[in-house]
Amino acid sequence: MRVLKKRLDILSDVANSKNNNKTIGFVPTMGALHKGHLALVERALKENDTVIVSVFVNPTQFNNAEDLVNYPRTLDTDVELLSKLSEEIIIFAPTPKEVYGDQMSTVNYNFNGLENQMEGKFRPGHFDGVGTVLKHFFEIVSPNKAYFGEKDFQQLQIVKKLVTIEKLSVQIIGCPIYREDTGLALSSRNKRLTTQQLEAAPLIYAILKEVQDNFGTKSVTTLTKWVSEQFEKNDTLELEYFEIAKISDLKSIKRKQKNMKYRAFIAVFAGKIRLIDNIALN
Ligand code: PAJ
Repeated sequence: MRVLKKRLDILSDVANSKNNNKTIGFVPTMGALHKGHLALVERALKENDTVIVSVFVNPTQFNNAEDLVNYPRTLDTDVELLSKLSEEIIIFAPTPKEVYGDQMSTVNYNFNGLENQMEGKFRPGHFDGVGTVLKHFFEIVSPNKAYFGEKDFQQLQIVKKLVTIEKLSVQIIGCPIYREDTGLALSSRNKRLTTQQLEAAPLIYAILKEVQDNFGTKSVTTLTKWVSEQFEKNDTLELEYFEIAKISDLKSIKRKQKNMKYRAFIAVFAGKIRLIDNIALN
């Protein structure tokens, strides 16, 4: 198992793979790996000769300093989990300096307005941080394919846009959301939930499922109002936003139109821990 911390080391491994005509699959993560991450890695292992997984808690995408400090960092366990999948995986776990150099600056991206919706609205600067770190990683790793979860659906759409803007040749692969049996979407932040919060959190998916089941017959206004009411009744979870949006531009809608694809998106606080989820509606 190779755990590389230096840009020069990973560049040399990448050059080696390229020289041997090996395809490179890349799975970027912030660590604290769970089965959702591992499902992406398993898919990458099936589809590529070399698989690189980055483990890097990217400071520039956190708009909340406390969230950055408290983000779980579990590199030893991450390495162990990945080595169970394959000893051949290359782990890239750099310091911020290796990624950004001396100045941790971000590019101010225009992702055609995708960056101004939902997560972008509630986490200002977040997607500039995501776009910038991925631009650095894609340049270092030169992957043929890169794997992203639909758990962060807005991020997935933005990464596809980033590839067009930066004229990169990587193919972006979206993978389904991995859930607990309770329906709760796996997230590194779940590790910070108290027992009471963990018991309450499956409500998020139960509500999304109910919205999905009723999308054909009920109006967007009725569904949105119903969702707010469910959270008003709950003492443990606080709704930040619920939106039904078009997949194409992620703009929230008031009324359904024919031949459009929609998804419901939600962000909820359990104490200070912020959880997001989404579901396809048609
Ligand atoms: P992180 O939250 O660690 O997620 C890494 C990848 O795993 C993302 O593509 C995310 O969508 C996916 N993922 C997380 N939970 C999942 C689940 N339950 N099911 C399926 N996929 C899941 O997203 C980031 O890190 C960062 O923004 C990053 C892209 C690494 C840039 O810093």
